[in-house]
Amino acid sequence: MGFVKTLKRKSLKIQNFFLKELSLKNKNIIISGSNSGIGLELTKKLLTENNILAFVNNETNNLDNLNNFNNLDIIKNNFEKNELEETSLKKINLFKPDILINCAASFGPEEQELKDINLKKFKQILNINVFGALQLINESLKSNNLKQIVNITSEMGSTANNKVGGYYYYRSSKSLLNSISKNLSLDLKNENINVFCIHPGDVKTKMNSGGLIMPDISAKKIINILSENNSKFSGILIDINKEIIKW
Ligand SMILES: NC(=O)c1ccc[n+]([C@@H]2O[C@H](COP(=O)([O-])OP(=O)(O)OC[C@H]3O[C@@H](n4cnc5c(N)ncnc54)[C@H](OP(=O)(O)O)[C@@H]3O)[C@@H](O)[C@H]2O)c1
Repeated sequence: MGFVKTLKRKSLKIQNFFLKELSLKNKNIIISGSNSGIGLELTKKLLTENNILAFVNNETNNLDNLNNFNNLDIIKNNFEKNELEETSLKKINLFKPDILINCAASFGPEEQELKDINLKKFKQILNINVFGALQLINESLKSNNLKQIVNITSEMGSTANNKVGGYYYYRSSKSLLNSISKNLSLDLKNENINVFCIHPGDVKTKMNSGGLIMPDISAKKIINILSENNSKFSGILIDINKEIIKW
């Protein structure tokens, strides 16, 4: 099994070496989950030619060496416990985001089979994975400049593809964000705002230590999708190779 995974990893590395990079410039971009994994890679890459308003949980260690960029502003908010403060809402409004990337999420505890369900824990995961994202969406819409909302959800939130069950907290939080995204895409169609759900792949991060691809590859492909801003993907869940994943 380990050998097969290593082979897969190597072959993906070769394929991704030739990845064409599109670029995104002069945009105001909000990214949540900026201090780790895919969110961190998105922040580092997009920071070179855009303004970033980064949302982090508590730790900013990974962003500390980016502090000298005057086009990066960091807001700390633990979505599990807190709604956004008034000062953060004002910052979002003044920032006038063109793009919002909701990347922050928690997988939750390992024990999340049927017998383990604990509503308090379930609500904590929903606060981060769903209500945090929804708050950022609502606030970002207020400055009337938003063109794209990108919710990093997961194939695990696909009801159609669920063949094994389990993982109640994580799966259903991602299914709910998928469903909200579809609804938003319809509600925001006349305002020409595209709403994408992206499954970022099997990515090696704090959340998934056995992931097959590195976060910078996933981030590159997400940026390519963003730079296309293709309305045909609005209201759809796609993977980073733009293959549609059934709801
Ligand atoms: N990695 C994969 O294979 C994979 C597959 C499918 C989908 N995804 C999705 O991809 C996105 C990025 O995940 P990742 O793999 O890059 O994992 P990660 O490295 O664990 O990043 C998750 C981010 O969410 C933040 N976060 C967690 N709890 C939070 C809270 N209470 N308040 C505010 N922020 C909080 C984390 O901040 P702290 O580190 O400070 O807690 C971190 O920045 C997630 O939406 C995840 O569900 C990942």
